[in-house]
Amino acid sequence: MEHYFTNSQNLRSEIRSISYENKGQVFTFFSDLGVFSKDKIDFGSRLLVDTILENEKRKNLEFLDVGCGYGFIGITLSLILDSCVEMVDVNKRALHLCERNIKENKIKGKCYLSNVYENVEGKYDFIVTNPPIRAGKAVVLEILLEARNYLKKDGVLWFVVRKDQGAKSLIKNIETVYNCEIVKKEKGFYVILAKMH
Ligand SMILES: C[S@@+](CC[C@H](N)C(=O)[O-])C[C@H]1O[C@@H](n2cnc3c(N)ncnc32)[C@H](O)[C@@H]1O
Repeated sequence: MEHYFTNSQNLRSEIRSISYENKGQVFTFFSDLGVFSKDKIDFGSRLLVDTILENEKRKNLEFLDVGCGYGFIGITLSLILDSCVEMVDVNKRALHLCERNIKENKIKGKCYLSNVYENVEGKYDFIVTNPPIRAGKAVVLEILLEARNYLKKDGVLWFVVRKDQGAKSLIKNIETVYNCEIVKKEKGFYVILAKMH
C-alpha cells in the first residue's frame, strides 16, 4: 500500500485548489493526489493553526514546519504572523505543491526536502508539526524530541495529535525533555504546547 509520504513515479496528477478562511482573509492552496489531506484542509491542522494564532501575538518570528505537506500550516502562519518560515517534507510532490503555494500566497519562506531534521540548519522561535503518525512512532518521536536542537533559547514546539492516536503516550514519552500543556481539545484532537525544561 502506498502512503501519502512515499514518492511514487507513477502517480497520476489531478491538481485541485483548496481555500481556507481566517477572519475574512482567504488563503488558497494547490493540492494533488498522493499528498496528505488532498481534498480539504485537515481538521487537526486547522485546529493547530487556530490555536497558535489565539496564543501567539508576536510578529516577525522565524519558525519551522516539519512534515509541511502542501504547506497549509507554514504558509498560513507566516502570512498572519508576518513571519519567515522554513518547511520540510520527504514527499517530493508535496514539496512541489508547497513551492507553488509559497509563490501563490507570496510569503517569506522556503521549503525543501528533509527526512526529519537531516537538512535543517537553523534555530527557530517555534517549530510546528502535524506529525506523520502513519510513518510510525519512531519517526514521530524523532520529530518531537529532536526539535529541541533547532529551537532558540525559549523556543517552543507546537503539535497536534488525536487522542486515539496515542496523544497521552506521546506526551509521556517527551516529558523528560519538555513541559507539555494541552492547550486545546476538540473532536478528539489535542493541540499541545511543549516548552523545554
Ligand atoms: C499529517 S501530514 C501533515 C501535512 C501538512 N503539514 C498538513 O497539515 O496538511 C504529515 C507530513 O509529514 C511528512 N513526513 C512523513 N515522514 C517524514 C519524515 N521522515 N520527515 C519529514 N516529513 C515527513 C508526510 O509526507 C506528510 O506530508
